[in-house]
Amino acid sequence: MDAIVVENIVKRFGSVEALRGVSFRVRRGEIFGLLGPNGAGKTTLIRTLLGLLRPAEGRVRIFDMDLERHPEAVHRFVGWVPQERAMDPFLTGRENLLFVAGLHHIPAREARDRVDGLLELVELTGAADRITRGYSGGMRRRLQLAMGLVHRPKVLLLDEPSLGLDVQTRRRMWWLIEKLRAGGTTVLITTHYLDEADALCDRVAIIEQGEIRGLDTPDALKQRYGGPPLLVLEWGEPGAHGRRQLIDSLKALPGVREVAERAGGVWVRGDDVVAVTRAVLAECERWGVTPARLSVRQPTLDDVFLAMTGASLKESTEEMSA
Ligand SMILES: Nc1ncnc2c1ncn2[C@@H]1O[C@H](COP(=O)(O)OP(=O)(O)OP(=O)(O)O)[C@@H](O)[C@H]1O
Ligand SMILES: [Mg+2]
Repeated sequence: MDAIVVENIVKRFGSVEALRGVSFRVRRGEIFGLLGPNGAGKTTLIRTLLGLLRPAEGRVRIFDMDLERHPEAVHRFVGWVPQERAMDPFLTGRENLLFVAGLHHIPAREARDRVDGLLELVELTGAADRITRGYSGGMRRRLQLAMGLVHRPKVLLLDEPSLGLDVQTRRRMWWLIEKLRAGGTTVLITTHYLDEADALCDRVAIIEQGEIRGLDTPDALKQRYGGPPLLVLEWGEPGAHGRRQLIDSLKALPGVREVAERAGGVWVRGDDVVAVTRAVLAECERWGVTPARLSVRQPTLDDVFLAMTGASLKESTEEMSA
């Protein structure tokens, strides 16, 4: 039995088609990633899974319970950490958690124990009795995670859990998510960070404009859509002698698919990276060019995204945040 089954979900807001027939399954105990740029439909999908939005078409099942007939399945099984979560700024971290425990009718004693455990887990024990108005962004994010865990959900929906966190705090967040999964929790996470999807997720669905463009393990996606590895040649000592001829002859080599001039060097892509490397070195010799460095870059999820959508996720999100 899968943890979450999403079948052909369609959701419109007026003339905007936020989800256009989205289907996928999240297996029990996996970390499943929804990777896509701003406006792709990630939050809309999460809200649909929570029963907060009613889709125009399609069905959601959580542990085999149809959401429309059993809306209580969400309350029982699902924990949610929204993109931006309301917490009471004038309550302490501990009080916020106890408040959530109250919403779930957890008896006071039990609630106190759970809250202590959660504060420990997210490393907020020391700050537990300070009001959250004074928390840093990373502390808030960790408290929000704990708030989503109070009722011990079997499935956790995390909407951009590491948005705006520094590298170190993000790694900490990943470690926490791994730890939850190790304890048997199924995790669905949305992100537009490629490295997050790559490092954390067992499987990734790439979503863009309300549609799933591809779904598999990060490695399989890279193999299938990322294209062959890239040979990166960096120019050596100053002086452009022979470089022009070298580039022209590289373009004419059999088995070379792409030659791109970059500042400081040239990128070469071909089907057989070993054969291409040999040929590139031979051409360097022929034209008297000594490269400073030659390296092979394996395809990334960004290459996958580019191949699927014609746009680089890295650039599109960098533009957005610029
Ligand atoms: N309540 C709403 N009313 C009208 N349009 C909405 C509403 N919620 C979402 N949309 C639209 O649906 C589309 C998908 O939005 P959604 O918030 O799901 O994207 P997202 O992938 O979560 O993006 P982000 O990375 O910015 O959080 C967008 O075009 C958005 O403007
Ligand atoms: Mg969103």
